Amino acid sequence: MIRAWSKRTVLDLVRDKFSGYLFVVVSNRQPYIYKFVKGRIECMKGPGGVITALDPVMCELKGLWVASGSGEADRLVARDSKVRVPPQEESYTLKYVWLTKEENLGFYYGFSNQALWPLMHLVYVRPQIKEEDWQVYKKVNKKFAQSVYKEVKDKKAIVFFQDYHLALGSLYLKELKPDAITLFFWHIPWPPYDVFRILPQRVEFLKGLLSYDLLGFHIRYFGNNFLEAVASELEAKVNKENSSVTFQSHTSLVRAYPISVDFEGISQKAKSLEVEKAMRSLKEDFSLEGKKIIVGLDRIDYTKGIIERILGVDKLLELYPSLKGKIVFVQVGEISRIHLSQYKKLNDEINALVEEVNFRHRKGSWRPIVFVRRHLSFSELLAFYRLADICLVTSLHDGMNLVAKEFVSSQVEERGVLVLSKFTGAARQLKEALIVNPYSREEVALVLYRALSMREEEIKERMRRLRQSVRVNNIWKWIGKIIADIPLPKF
Ligand code: G6P
Repeated sequence: MIRAWSKRTVLDLVRDKFSGYLFVVVSNRQPYIYKFVKGRIECMKGPGGVITALDPVMCELKGLWVASGSGEADRLVARDSKVRVPPQEESYTLKYVWLTKEENLGFYYGFSNQALWPLMHLVYVRPQIKEEDWQVYKKVNKKFAQSVYKEVKDKKAIVFFQDYHLALGSLYLKELKPDAITLFFWHIPWPPYDVFRILPQRVEFLKGLLSYDLLGFHIRYFGNNFLEAVASELEAKVNKENSSVTFQSHTSLVRAYPISVDFEGISQKAKSLEVEKAMRSLKEDFSLEGKKIIVGLDRIDYTKGIIERILGVDKLLELYPSLKGKIVFVQVGEISRIHLSQYKKLNDEINALVEEVNFRHRKGSWRPIVFVRRHLSFSELLAFYRLADICLVTSLHDGMNLVAKEFVSSQVEERGVLVLSKFTGAARQLKEALIVNPYSREEVALVLYRALSMREEEIKERMRRLRQSVRVNNIWKWIGKIIADIPLPKF
């Protein structure tokens, strides 16, 4: 068995490599958020792979995490815009950048999510690119950089910026502190040059990214698209062999690091009594007993192919009416970015379509689709994964897709079939999934039928291999490889 990366191996690596450096993470979202629950302040850990991977590293290194404060109680817990986290262990500092409403509109809703998000995802949603949003985006990136600078000016620092919100972070930080070592991870796809070149600010945007010392993408293909954009737009030396770019005598390494999940952590939790209890109550609450269960779990976003998935289930029942009463498709959807009209519209469309499909196929008290809108705890999510006979991931374009990897990590009994869109980064690693083109409702229906009729031995064998793949390519490998590649100066 191949030895997998673990939290321990990563912590040993950082201890060796980072002594004498302050390690800083910068992201739009914060790792811990303070909210009011029944009138009392409560601290909640944020979701996602980045926080899972970086929180223990930060605890070990007693680092600094800079993020925008968006929790309703963040200002109350902060002293001098800082708070020590995690709440019980207080190992590192979380520093807030406070954004005004205008800044949030131009930076987060505007340039990040109305221009960059649709531009980078090939889903035929037209980007809305406004010069005034770009100006705010730059101003906010500068604000983040200045906030970091205040903490690192007299120190040796490694600063790890996250995602498309902060493409220019390094540029502004290095204007103030040229010796900072900067890393960046691009968490979404990077499209082919013909798509990217519509961005009016592309030259400035690329120059910003090339001020990073190390740039990470999920898969090589996105990195290559980035290199193509650089070669087409700038007088830069692109070295394809060692995947680096030299621009104005600065070299940036460009590498692929497929993000993942904490396989062992999720597997352990999925076996817990808490999850087993949640499985029993969900089964009862949603009348799932005796049914084949198809599960979908997403942030409600037009990139996730939720409409396409519902149409696929509709087609399945049209082609195989004998399945009526025997299957249930449970879609869990977290509301997201609802202030943007495209998201509100999508939400309304999904509601209408669920109604329509349920009306078309209903039989007695049975309905084919259950849409779960309430917030679920992590145990309940794992319970849904464990109950699922099929997990249906139909993204129209997705950098990686961690739902697929979470589902696999939860299958402690080696059951369940993963149906996975070919347009996800994950499809390049999870070869034993049933791969599907979400744009074809017929194909989705036929693949679902194939999954529903698959023999138990095949299900088990596929899941065993999928689990082996995620076990080895876990979140610790993602962060471990990034850390190993950081170009530190030699003295
Ligand atoms: C995408 C991005 C993440 C982001 C997530 C949630 O997956 O790559 O960086 O955290 O969406 O989006 P939100 O807009 O709620 O931060």
